[in-house]
Amino acid sequence: MTVKSSLVKAYKILQDAKVSEPEKSADFLMRQVLGWDKAQLITHSDYKLNDKEEKKFRQFIERRSKHEPVWYITGQIEFYGLDLAVNQNVLIPRPETELLVEQVVNNIKQLTNHKKDLRILELGTGSGAISLALANEVKNKKEGFRVTSTPSGVYPSLAENGQAGQNDIKIFASDISEKALKVAKGNAKSLGLDKEIELRQGDLFEPWKGEKFDYLVANLPYIPHEEMKTLVLDIHHWEPRIALDGGREGLEIYERLLEQASDYLNKNYRIFFEIGIGQGEKIRNLATKHISGSQVEIKRDYSNIDRIAIIKGK
Ligand SMILES: C[S@@+](CC[C@H](N)C(=O)[O-])C[C@H]1O[C@@H](n2cnc3c(N)ncnc32)[C@H](O)[C@@H]1O
Repeated sequence: MTVKSSLVKAYKILQDAKVSEPEKSADFLMRQVLGWDKAQLITHSDYKLNDKEEKKFRQFIERRSKHEPVWYITGQIEFYGLDLAVNQNVLIPRPETELLVEQVVNNIKQLTNHKKDLRILELGTGSGAISLALANEVKNKKEGFRVTSTPSGVYPSLAENGQAGQNDIKIFASDISEKALKVAKGNAKSLGLDKEIELRQGDLFEPWKGEKFDYLVANLPYIPHEEMKTLVLDIHHWEPRIALDGGREGLEIYERLLEQASDYLNKNYRIFFEIGIGQGEKIRNLATKHISGSQVEIKRDYSNIDRIAIIKGK
């Protein structure tokens, strides 16, 4: 069969299965099978698939017809310029989460006079998307930022070598899900960032007892429990519930985090949360209730939805 006729058949299968964006899904999966870009798909639509390609495309379309997200089917997604592996044990990183990374990066860049190591903790790391994007930025891209080794002491830190400058940055991340952590560790290794980030498993701050941090970053579940059943099948059936369900009103996990946060933060701390529709005021109230003297700023995304809460301490 040619690319064109295979696609026409696939569109029909996906439309009948009421899959969202049937044509976009089929085109994308065909491009993954052939390793083509969008232009090639248009200009080479008469190309005849060989048996192996035909079989692989058929299998992909069968999976998509069960509403499996294309990213789980291909096992890969791009986030903040990094190729990340994903599977059903982790949330598929969303484009809006790139805004969260951007906020943290911009904030770090302004800290030119930070006189000691900057310790960043991410809770609920999932695939590792946020922490690995941060590690990649500070390690590979931005002059003046360096990620030093973690305090486990396996790798001698720059400070110990007597070369420590300002803005040495250490990144720590954890997740309650052992299976998610396995994905994050695999991503850290394949991106060559495994020495730049320390990963642990556990509920919120539990793996970090007795430690203090300057920056706290989290995209924890924030979908109100009642809304879970209204999510499209792609999300509801396929993505891990533990990555989505934020309990009553959606902010139960964030509230639990804020109750404990003061014990784990240095002076002049910054907290960055990803939040959802209409949650700005609620998170502001929770932050001021649980962390005295904190200042809260809410930023909206391109769709004008409350998306990022930045909580600053003195
Ligand atoms: C919305 S997902 C975000 C994943 C990733 N940070 C991202 O932005 O793509 C939330 C993550 O928080 C984790 N999580 C849920 N409850 C947690 C808890 N109590 N402590 C630590 N992690 C938790 C889930 O396992 C999931 O990986």
